[in-house]
Amino acid sequence: MAQIGPKGLARGLTNYGDAGFSLYLRRSFAKSMGYSGEMLARPVVGIADAKSGFNNCHRHFPELVEAVKRGVIAAGGLPIDFPTVSLGEVFLSPTSMMFRNLMSMDVEEMVRAQPMDAVVLIGACDKTVPAQLMGAASADVPAVQLIGGPMMPTSFHGERLGACTDCRRFWAMHRAGKVDQDGINEIEGQLATTAGSCAVMGTASTMASIAEALGMALPGSAAIPAVHADRLRAAEASGRRAVELVARPIRPSQIITAKSVENALRVLLAVGGSTNAIVHLTAIAGRVGVKIDLHRLNEISDTTPVLVDLKPTGQHYMSDLYAAGGIGAVLRELKPLLHLDAMAVTGETLGERLAQEEGAWVDRAVVRSFAEPLAKEGGLVALFGSLAPSGAILKRSAADASLFEREGRAVVFASLDDLAARVDDPALQIAPEDFMVLQNAGPKSGYAMPEAGYLPIPQKLARAGLKDMVRISDARMSGTAYGTIVLHVSPEAAAGGPLALVQNGDRIRLSVKARRIDLLVEDAELARRRAAWKPPAEVPKRGYAKLYMDHVLQAEHGCDFDFLRKA
Ligand code: FES
Repeated sequence: MAQIGPKGLARGLTNYGDAGFSLYLRRSFAKSMGYSGEMLARPVVGIADAKSGFNNCHRHFPELVEAVKRGVIAAGGLPIDFPTVSLGEVFLSPTSMMFRNLMSMDVEEMVRAQPMDAVVLIGACDKTVPAQLMGAASADVPAVQLIGGPMMPTSFHGERLGACTDCRRFWAMHRAGKVDQDGINEIEGQLATTAGSCAVMGTASTMASIAEALGMALPGSAAIPAVHADRLRAAEASGRRAVELVARPIRPSQIITAKSVENALRVLLAVGGSTNAIVHLTAIAGRVGVKIDLHRLNEISDTTPVLVDLKPTGQHYMSDLYAAGGIGAVLRELKPLLHLDAMAVTGETLGERLAQEEGAWVDRAVVRSFAEPLAKEGGLVALFGSLAPSGAILKRSAADASLFEREGRAVVFASLDDLAARVDDPALQIAPEDFMVLQNAGPKSGYAMPEAGYLPIPQKLARAGLKDMVRISDARMSGTAYGTIVLHVSPEAAAGGPLALVQNGDRIRLSVKARRIDLLVEDAELARRRAAWKPPAEVPKRGYAKLYMDHVLQAEHGCDFDFLRKA
C-alpha cells in the first residue's frame, strides 16, 4: 500500500499561508546544509538520536547513527538525524522515571512535526527504549527500534563483573563490612567499562528483548553487545528497513497489538526480566489502546517457563545470551505459547520468522529448552489484597522462597528521607522476620517512583549475615536487584492508598501462593487513620513537575500521563 499525501521534505509544511512558498523555503534552507536536489527528493528517514554526555550507556551512538545513515543512503533514502531528550539512568534527579513521559512526548512530537517518512529510534538505557516506543506508537509513523546494546562484562581478580548486579553485590558486601573502602574504590572503576546498557537482564536488556518480541526491532538485534561489529550491521540494516517501510508502510499500531504485547509478556517472563518492564510495557501498550491486566499477567506467568540463565537471577551476561542464540532462541522455545500471526517491522509474521530460524544453534547453558527450563513458572507475579487493592508486583525468581508464606510485623519508614536517616541506626527496633515497609515512594510521592524498593537490609542485620527479608513499598526496583521485595503497591501511599495507613507493629500477611498481600488491621481502625491522613507531597506549581503531578497515573496504568493513553 503506497503512502498517501506529501512525502519526504514536503511532509508537514511550515504554515506561511502559501504551501508553494513553504516548500521552496524549506528546500532552500535544507540546501544550506549542502544537500543536492537529488538527495532532497528522496524519502526521508529520521534518526532519533538519544546521545548525551549525561548518558554513558549511549556513548557509542555517533557510530550507530553513521551506520544507520549508511543503510538509509544505500537503500535510496535521505537520513536526517535529530536529537531528543536522553535519560541516563544514574544522572537524573529525582529519578529517570519522572522524565520517561517527557522523552516520549519529545519523540512523538518531533517525529510528527518534522518531515520524515519513517524513523529509526536509537535507545539503550532503561527509560529510553520505552519512551521511544511510547512516542512512536502515538506518532504512528513507520518506525524501527534500534537497540544500543549491552555493555561487555570485565575480568577482575579472576571473576567477571558487569553492571549492575555486581555493583549491588559489592555494595552489600561493603555495607556488611566485607569489602573495605579501598576495595570498593577499586571495584568502582571495573563495573561499567564499555559503551552500552547494563550487562545483565536488567530493565534495559529486558526492554531490548521486549522491543524484539513486539516486532519493533529487527530479528536477532536485541542482545548484540554495544561494541560488537554486528551491532553496526544491525544499525545499517535498520536504516535499510526504514526506507523499505516508506514504500510499504507498517505502522507501530499494526505491530504493537494485543497479540504482540502478550508475546512480549511471555518473553519478559522467560528471560527472567525486570519488574520495571511491566510498567513500561503497560505504558507502551496503553498508547495503542491495549490494556495489560495484572490478573492476566499471573495466568501468563504461571504458564511461561524461565529459560534464560542471566544475572541478576542466574549466571550469565547479555553478551553470553547473544552468543547463545539471542532472543530468537527464546522465541523458538516459546513457540507453542506465542501468537505466531503477530506482524513485525520486517513485514513478516513471527511464525514466518521462526520458521526461517528453525534448527539454529543454541547454547543450552544460557538458553534452556522448554522441556528443561530453569523454572517452570515465570519470575514475576502480581499480588492483590487489602494492602494493594489495585495490585503489586513481586519478582519471585529473585526472591528467597522461604519468605513467601508468612506473616510479619511492619517496621515502617514514612519516606525515603526517613529511611536514609534511620535504617542504619543501631537503635532501630527490627528483627529478620519483620517486614520493612516504605511509604511515599510512588509516582505521586514527589520522588517520582524511584528504584528504591530494594530497601537496604539494616546494617546491624546485614553485619549479622542476613541476606534477605520481606520489603514492601510503592517504589520500583532496579532490574539488576534481587530480594523478597513487593513493589509498585497500588494505590500508592501518596494517593491515599492503604499503604499510607500502615503503622509500626501492624501485622501484614504475604502469600505468594495465594497472590495476596494483606494488612491485618480492623476496618474501623483503618477508617480512623484514614480520617487523619494528609497527602505528603507538596504539589508543584509550575513547569514539567506540575504537568507530571497533575497527570501521572498509577503503576497498573504504566505511570503514563492520563492524556497520552489511547482511549
Ligand atoms: Fe543505563 Fe543501566 S545505567 S542501562
